[in-house]
Amino acid sequence: MSSRPRSHHVKPVPKPYQIHHLATVDSTNTHLRGMVDAPEWTCVTADRQTAGRGRQDRQWHSAAGEGLYLSILLRPVAGTPELPLLSLTAAVAVAETLGAAGVAGVDIKWPNDLLVDERKICGILIESVGYGAAAPRRVIVGIGVNLNQTDFPAPIAETATSCRLAMGRMVDHDTFRDALLERFHAWYDCWRCGGTATILARWQALSSYAVGRQVAVDVGGELLTGETAGLDARGALLLRLPDGEQRVVMAGEVNRLRSI
Ligand code: BTN
Repeated sequence: MSSRPRSHHVKPVPKPYQIHHLATVDSTNTHLRGMVDAPEWTCVTADRQTAGRGRQDRQWHSAAGEGLYLSILLRPVAGTPELPLLSLTAAVAVAETLGAAGVAGVDIKWPNDLLVDERKICGILIESVGYGAAAPRRVIVGIGVNLNQTDFPAPIAETATSCRLAMGRMVDHDTFRDALLERFHAWYDCWRCGGTATILARWQALSSYAVGRQVAVDVGGELLTGETAGLDARGALLLRLPDGEQRVVMAGEVNRLRSI
């Protein structure tokens, strides 16, 4: 389904966030990488990024004062579920926050692109730092939300949208940021405590891409076309090929997923 997300009850939580706001930064994710010994829930935001990064080495358009450019430092302990599931968890939190802010028709394209009318409104970049036997694991969750843009530069003019374009009114940056952090905190707890089934169910309820969607997926150079058939327990996308074979597509292998 691609209809507006149903509102999801979120318990108020004590605010653990420590927000470092910068006027200009290369990338909030890159900046936070230099602060990995900071407490969990340390966040970096910026008015603008000069080298905002997206997945697959793409750039993230980061015009001054128009978007939310947010990176969050997390320290998941050993034994927590896999990172692909955290990426779906973040997408659920953003989808719900957009819906609660009044954006109608929010959809999630697997694994974690947020769309409205098939145009991208938010992207999520999750990076692991110091992941190894010797170092405690840190994870940086980078979230870029198009809030108040009224237009976009040529390469993405036809494929991007913003809350303002979707709703016809402005969104307050700090209000949106706080609402998102609160919702993500609640969903992160769900992830941390093994609420895999809850996360998968919520993601599938919020995504028109979950089941029965004809898609083309570039899996490490191999172009697969087929119909989506839900997610497995790790958050991988199940794809039914025309010959009936079912393939399990992990986020890490996908270069591009598009509807056909
Ligand atoms: C994507 O869809 O490709 C992911 C985009 C992620 C963009 C955000 S903006 C805040 C954070 N800092 C970055 O450099 N990237 C992420």
